[in-house]
Amino acid sequence: TRIAEAAGRVDKGGHRHFMAKEIHEQPAVIDACLSHYLDGDTVRLREGEIDFSGVDRIVMVACGTASYACHVAKYWFEQIARVPVEVDVASEFRYREPPLSDRTLAIFVSQSGETADTLAALRYASGKAQILSIVNVDTSSIARESDVALPILAGVEIGVASTKAFTCQLTVLALLALKAGADRGTLTAEDGKAHVEALRKMPALVSQALAVEDRIEDIARSLAEARDVLFLGRGAMYPLALEGALKLKEISYIHAEGYASGELKHGPIALVDESVPIIVLAPRDHLFGKTVSNMQEVMARGGRVVLISDGDGLAAESAAWRTVEMPRAPAIWAPILYAVPAQMLAYHTAIAKGTDADQPRNLAKSVTVE
Ligand code: G6P
Repeated sequence: TRIAEAAGRVDKGGHRHFMAKEIHEQPAVIDACLSHYLDGDTVRLREGEIDFSGVDRIVMVACGTASYACHVAKYWFEQIARVPVEVDVASEFRYREPPLSDRTLAIFVSQSGETADTLAALRYASGKAQILSIVNVDTSSIARESDVALPILAGVEIGVASTKAFTCQLTVLALLALKAGADRGTLTAEDGKAHVEALRKMPALVSQALAVEDRIEDIARSLAEARDVLFLGRGAMYPLALEGALKLKEISYIHAEGYASGELKHGPIALVDESVPIIVLAPRDHLFGKTVSNMQEVMARGGRVVLISDGDGLAAESAAWRTVEMPRAPAIWAPILYAVPAQMLAYHTAIAKGTDADQPRNLAKSVTVE
């Protein structure tokens, strides 16, 4: 297959697995992606013009990790561009037969550009809505059948569990949200400029986040003993909790679930006891106080909390079982940064369990059947 051929050409660059290499490539590929789309402070879509001023609704469709990138982007588009966004997994979207119009922008996100469910959903939307895709393979079917296809420029991704493609998808989506805000007049030039400056700092922050690997490795050794793990997040950190849980399931085969922190009390808290580690992804933002009270609820029931936060967050909440310190980042773009510890936790748990991080059982890199 193409992936096997690519694996023959690409080496592990001194890492034990492609996944580790791809995690470590993120500062460089995010940087390349930003350079491709930024012209000074302005976002330029070189591959084709999208004018968001005529768009009254965005629907985003994808599978797996790419669908979580869409869920994060929903927060960005709604907040920055004040446009309603709906996200669905491709296998549901298509059979729902959702109404679409020429003022709907349908965004399809796919690393491979060949995922059968996503392609079928795109074909359903084709001719009804404007079709934009965000892909890593620009010669793929999904790219070819779109009105505009934006590359994420992550380079070949071999590990079955997506890592650098996810953060590059987020990067393109962040830039698109800024363009949407500018086109729709909901983002001032000054605020747009500040966001661009903040995004340009992300590669350096992601590099810093990679430095917590030893600490993550240590935590992962305990996670490897767990039967169930919960991931919690609020706001745009909620989809990241879902992604963290997916990554852990995919490569370590440990049952994991992601929840919105506030939803914990409506069911999943019943699972909590001393044997269930709870990973909390919570930068010190305007929701932090609420997350801390959710965390206290689980700690009161013996839950072992791993708090991943920045220096301010960790200073405010010290009762967690383990902590991981992330660099400070603007709250809105923090999901790009917090993807890194989530990926490393899954990777090192897989290593501790002795599972194959690059080629997990039952999974394929690109799923071309529906
Ligand atoms: C497969 C992979 C996942 C991936 C999903 C979507 O299930 O195992 O890691 O997220 O497909 O793939 P795509 O190429 O469309 O992003």
